[in-house]
Amino acid sequence: MDDKKLNKVLSQITFLVRTIVVTLTLLVTLTILLASGALDTLLPRNDLDVKESKTQEIVDGIHIETGLIDSPGLQLVIQNCTNCHSSKLISQNRMNLAGWSSTIKWMQETQNLWDLGDNEAVILEYLASNYAPKKKGRRANLENIEWYELE
Ligand code: HEC
Repeated sequence: MDDKKLNKVLSQITFLVRTIVVTLTLLVTLTILLASGALDTLLPRNDLDVKESKTQEIVDGIHIETGLIDSPGLQLVIQNCTNCHSSKLISQNRMNLAGWSSTIKWMQETQNLWDLGDNEAVILEYLASNYAPKKKGRRANLENIEWYELE
């Protein structure tokens, strides 16, 4: 092998070794970051995490993890109502007590929601008082009126 060829082979080997070292360094860094939980906020998480979450931070009366209103019964709602679907399904709905009651019944009959026992009353009270139908701000417009002429 002449010098030229040897140099070429050597530089190829150097390049290969460098690439391997850089890749390994990146992998190790990533593993450490993942293990330390530093990337948790970047990773997708499901609602089950909410249950195990240790942060119960409340800001302006809103439970940050779930977006639910902080009010008596909140913890029961988090424990029983955020396992199968997002808490948004609750906060984006508005019903009176009867409506919430029949939604729960429907989930029990068709979606395997468990018997809530004594907690049901507390949960219903929470839902009906925090997620009640919005009152209309003003009288609704009159529609389909047949006006008559005054004589
Ligand atoms: C065992 C699983 C499960 C649990 C626990 C559960 N749900 Fe549901 N819920 C469902 C499923 C499934 C749907 C239908 C989801 C869809 O349509 O995407 C649903 C739908 C809903 C809806 C929307 C209903 C509609 O008419 O669109 C609301 C509101 C709701 N759930 C509230 C609650 C509340 C409040 C609790 C706690 C008491 C609860 N869920 C607990 C399974 C569950």
